[in-house]
Amino acid sequence: MPYVPRTTRTTLSQRGLRALLAAACAGTLAVALVPDASAQAHQPQHGPTYLNPKAPIGQRVTDLLGRMTLADKVGQMTQAERSDVDADPSLIATWRLGSVLSGGGSVPTDNSVTGWADMVDRYQAAALQTPLHIPILYGVDSVHGHGNMLGATVFPHNIGLGASRDPQLVEQVEHVTAIETRASGPQWVFAPCLCVARDDRWGRTYESFGEDPSLVAMMETAIDGFQGAPGQLDRPDHVLATAKHFAGDGLTSYDATKALGGGYPIDQGIDQVSQADFARLALAPYIPAIKRHDVQSVMPSFSSVDFTNDGLGNPVKMSADKDLITGWLKQQQHFDGMVVSDWQAIRQLPGTYSEQVAAGVNAGIDMFMEPYSGSAVGAPDFIAALTQNVKDGTVPMSRINDAVSRILRVKFELGLFEHPYTNRSLAGTVGDAQHHALARRAAAESQVLLKNSGSTLPLSGRQPVYVAGGSADSFGKQAGGWTLQWQGDPNNVIPGTTILDGIKQDSRGPVTYSEDASATIPSNARGIVVVGETPYAEGPGDYNGPTWAPNGVQTMAFSASDQAAIEKVCAAAASCTVVVVSGRPMIIPADLLSKMDSLVEAWLPGSEGAGVADDLFGRHAYTGKLPVTWPRTIDQEPINVGDASYDPLFPYGFGLTTRVR
Ligand code: GLC
Repeated sequence: MPYVPRTTRTTLSQRGLRALLAAACAGTLAVALVPDASAQAHQPQHGPTYLNPKAPIGQRVTDLLGRMTLADKVGQMTQAERSDVDADPSLIATWRLGSVLSGGGSVPTDNSVTGWADMVDRYQAAALQTPLHIPILYGVDSVHGHGNMLGATVFPHNIGLGASRDPQLVEQVEHVTAIETRASGPQWVFAPCLCVARDDRWGRTYESFGEDPSLVAMMETAIDGFQGAPGQLDRPDHVLATAKHFAGDGLTSYDATKALGGGYPIDQGIDQVSQADFARLALAPYIPAIKRHDVQSVMPSFSSVDFTNDGLGNPVKMSADKDLITGWLKQQQHFDGMVVSDWQAIRQLPGTYSEQVAAGVNAGIDMFMEPYSGSAVGAPDFIAALTQNVKDGTVPMSRINDAVSRILRVKFELGLFEHPYTNRSLAGTVGDAQHHALARRAAAESQVLLKNSGSTLPLSGRQPVYVAGGSADSFGKQAGGWTLQWQGDPNNVIPGTTILDGIKQDSRGPVTYSEDASATIPSNARGIVVVGETPYAEGPGDYNGPTWAPNGVQTMAFSASDQAAIEKVCAAAASCTVVVVSGRPMIIPADLLSKMDSLVEAWLPGSEGAGVADDLFGRHAYTGKLPVTWPRTIDQEPINVGDASYDPLFPYGFGLTTRVR
């Protein structure tokens, strides 16, 4: 579906511009410029103004807000997880929830498009039982396609999309993701991450488009793919996007004491940066996200910032940072969408739960992701605490009204009051050939060729091909985290092709596969060894597993079995190509690199491993460029473009090219 290209902000208000663009699309420009004086005239047909789809959204918000009790308003600011309500959806009405989410891996019993849509609609039916019939938002982490849902098209994770340097591709990828998400029920995605990953040991490096904030900004066409042009949020192929995690989630410093203490050495840590660097690296990407792409929700980070040049030495948690959320984001940047907390994030704030709630609300957060998730605290506790905060004056009613107005505005823009239930008209496109063709193209465009001695690649001719390595035939490893389960799983199976499948499709010679390279290696064989990481997500990704690093640190090293496969194949085959399937650079000792004829970083290509093979065999040229610096040793981390002393193995932006055969 064609979009109206985004235009930069004019003197019109954001609302006015959105209405203008929407009307331009609908060919009723004249009407959009003149306030709809007849709005009141329509009132008798629809009853209350808020139920009148022809009334300006601002009037609908004001009318509904005026009808809401404190319980309605506090409930609207509350988000529960599906496991909190699935056994008894009537709780959604009891608590008057504004939203429900699926955490990573939290899926309906029938994990299919129909199963998801039926689940979301069952919850929606419960929400509409409330006195004012306010529909819920359903949120999900569609961070590389609707990865929780079996049958979804799974795309490369953001680090691979950053390597493509193709903003139009990213917009198409997220448009398809929006189609497959909305067709299965959820109208809200917690994506894209605008994280600028600076220390590759971070378990969320692969969720970043790269280490350079200008590259991250370039890829914010993702928001256009998700939301469409202003005024298109109510369409079945668009969803509400979330810019996350505000701000500086990727700038945290490595804390070795945490690694030894069982915590996360990087994730959710402290940014120890100057205010200038924080503005340049953390805040900068949010400006185009708001001004150019009109993102309509933002999620604060678990991390803290401790400005090294303010002399105060006190780290402030993003979830309580009123200066940044209310001051910078809402007042200075005129962000008019809603702010949603991260998973139980306010519980990391100082004080009692009541104090944590007040701190988060007063900082400017509007919606609170407060699942039980095995803890003693959940949505009803949040509701009770906030209600008491309002009654005792700790939280002013003006803040509540601001938060609820933002939430309602988004719901009106999504068309939820007119169409609360899932529009299943595009359900038949989920996982279809066209979507998978896009996934294959995205995988192919994200490949980065780092070494190619003697023009080993692209492979041609009818020589035998010998494939080895633990990541050659593994959907789980090539998809990575946030796939079916929160952490992903090496044994996951999803629709698509593995890299080995792709090699078998593209090779004109016979293909032998031996994961551990124990099968005989023909001396004239083209060797391909596919190695890399096992799946992870968030903090656990700060470690590379106890088997590789007993003290729980991140070495970014190959496993012993992968290294052995490389040694065997590179010693015996006629040529030796190593393909790395990982969410970040990996450490390759010089002597091992010297044994490789060619080296490719495939990142986490998703459901279409055939896209990796397409570059290996010349069906697609290598065009990808490193979105992050590739270190020589782990001790170089963090190492980033622009550093004073900069001596990486491969620099940011590096990537060899080949021609299509
Ligand atoms: C997680 C992540 C966030 C995600 C949220 C909901 O902890 O930090 O990125 O959107 O919880 O799953």
